[in-house]
Amino acid sequence: MSDKKTVETSEAEISVHWKEEEYYHPAPEFIAQANLTDENVFSRFSLDNFPDCYIEFAELLTWYQEWEEVLDTSDAPCWKWFRGGKLNASYNCIDRHLGKNKNKTAIHFVPEPEEERIDHITYQELYVRVNEFAALLRDTAGLKRGDRVTIHMPMSAELPVAVLACARLGVIHSVVFGGFSSSACADRIVDSSSRVLITMDAYYRAGRLLNHKAVGDEACELAEKEGQKVDTVLIWQRYPGKMSFESTLVEGRDVVVNEELKKYYGVRVEPEQMFSEDPLFLMYTSGTTGKPKGVQHGTGGYLSYVTAMSKYIQDIHPEDVYWCTADIGWITGHSFIIYGPLSLGASTVIYEGVPTYPDAGRFWRIAQDLDVNIFHTAPTAIRALRKIGPDEPAKYNFEFKHMTTVGEPIEPEVWRWYEREVGKGKAVIVDTYWQTETGGFLCATVPALHPMKPGSAGPGVPGIHPVVFDEEGNEIPAGSGKAGNICIKNPWPGCFQTVWGDRERFVDSYFGMYNRDPESKDWRDWPYLTGDAAVVAEDGYVRVLGRIDDVINVSGHRLGTKEIESAALTVPEVAEAAVVPVDHEVKGKEPELYVSLKPGYESSPEIARKIADAITFEIGKIATCKNVWIVPDMPKTRSGKIMRRVLGAISNKADVGNVMTLANPEIVEEIQSLVGRDV
Ligand code: WTA
Repeated sequence: MSDKKTVETSEAEISVHWKEEEYYHPAPEFIAQANLTDENVFSRFSLDNFPDCYIEFAELLTWYQEWEEVLDTSDAPCWKWFRGGKLNASYNCIDRHLGKNKNKTAIHFVPEPEEERIDHITYQELYVRVNEFAALLRDTAGLKRGDRVTIHMPMSAELPVAVLACARLGVIHSVVFGGFSSSACADRIVDSSSRVLITMDAYYRAGRLLNHKAVGDEACELAEKEGQKVDTVLIWQRYPGKMSFESTLVEGRDVVVNEELKKYYGVRVEPEQMFSEDPLFLMYTSGTTGKPKGVQHGTGGYLSYVTAMSKYIQDIHPEDVYWCTADIGWITGHSFIIYGPLSLGASTVIYEGVPTYPDAGRFWRIAQDLDVNIFHTAPTAIRALRKIGPDEPAKYNFEFKHMTTVGEPIEPEVWRWYEREVGKGKAVIVDTYWQTETGGFLCATVPALHPMKPGSAGPGVPGIHPVVFDEEGNEIPAGSGKAGNICIKNPWPGCFQTVWGDRERFVDSYFGMYNRDPESKDWRDWPYLTGDAAVVAEDGYVRVLGRIDDVINVSGHRLGTKEIESAALTVPEVAEAAVVPVDHEVKGKEPELYVSLKPGYESSPEIARKIADAITFEIGKIATCKNVWIVPDMPKTRSGKIMRRVLGAISNKADVGNVMTLANPEIVEEIQSLVGRDV
């Protein structure tokens, strides 16, 4: 074998060359205080005890009415968890804590400008704000149980208030990441048929106050063109009492929330008694085809699951100060900033801005000032902080007992820095592998029971039974060093219920590949396909290699290559577009775009800029491509398929392998010299 990296090496082969990392053991002080130290948990959650084992999770919640059946499989694979049970998520996250803990902080909101005060919101105050806003949603916006609402808000204390007010009314919230463009927001408004948009006028990002109201206005305009009229826009003000940017309010549509709320001061709204299987929210995520899909999560199953994961895997106690640095616009924020920690009565931190503003010590100052003891972040943030301020954590007086990482594989080197410098050698690290669709963790170590291994998530969490299949559906045994498609054998309560409005896509994408009988009502016939390639070591620890489909993980965010390509194709000059992932030191991967132009057009910097702008417009800045290469033609197979593999090799300076079978092998060299990465 040559020493060049060859792209024809399969992921399975790469894994064989990975060296096994050493174990790290949790500190005795951690174990002594941990929520889950009973090793019997794994036998209690064995498949023999499925599905009743999950009653243990449901019992962490307060129900109005007990379920009739733990798992109803009659509409397989749309599982119904705790069917017939009744509960309310906002009640579980707020009201039930008032008896003992009403004066405890529920939310610490940290504004980006350091000269602004931190807002400490007690459970009682959260109760008041959620009730009043729920009354506004009901009476001003006319919303009721089952309606959908799009929330396009920055990280703010008002965002969880909006989310929990929806939950209180049984309104299905669809939170769109605040950094997404108007066009991406419009698509989600249309798909969920929301007639109400909740937004905020402005927010801080890296020291700049951004005009967010303008984005909302444009989203409404675009949505209307696509056939969905937004009749009410609820605007929170970043600085109550004034609009941060000059803007004309649309008569009859725009409502300034801070003003309107005065009508509802003191109003209380009874929580709706929702069925366990009623949808709680939608979260749009990228899949293999262009259109983002509305991942629909239910109420009882989801909330039981995230509460249990927060308690047992993240080891959250009510007295902890917990900080998850994700954005609430992603699933991590839903499950592990809002629902899980609040359901347990902990204090959760919400930070408005970027990790490195105004300097690389910002995160650690927040941790010190709020006495955070559980910290949850993503490899991309860890890489960035390590790069620009490797010695910063030591300068601050904070001590974490527990640290989580999520979103993409973490490189062992980066893991070790996190452990040594951020954890100060005392904290446990839990690498949690999961997805928007799965609601909560699939694989992770149970922190007081398992040693840690840098770069690997743990085995399946209690109740999750992973299995790795090859293309034919044969099980690849643990310890064989071979990678395959990682699936989950059994359903679990946190799993999403369906793709909003597209059951067929749900069944095909997640179960189609390994389903044994489409008519079967037996859960054993429906292994869940994650879409990731993974290898399982002898000790059962899962190491994820990446997506098997066309999704690029940028900074822990999933971007559909098709979404980016479709955006490029909105530029009239573009004939074909192909996106490939390029390794990036901080972001993990970064998309790079190749396009060819329609006949009669010449490559020019203007066209490249137009394409880059189109991507920002359609999706947002997170999809920014490292380069837009305008090439004379795409490398193609004889059947006309674009060979992304070859483009990926060129972008990553790897060997392109044998290209003689292509329809146009000569193009490869041409592209290589254009890109200047001839190898
Ligand atoms: C990847 C984020 C390795 C994986 C919660 C998955 C990970 C996708 C890890 C889901 C991890 C997530 N180690 N890879 N600990 N966590 N992934 O839907 O490819 O935004 O399928 O959910 O991220 O991304 P999503």
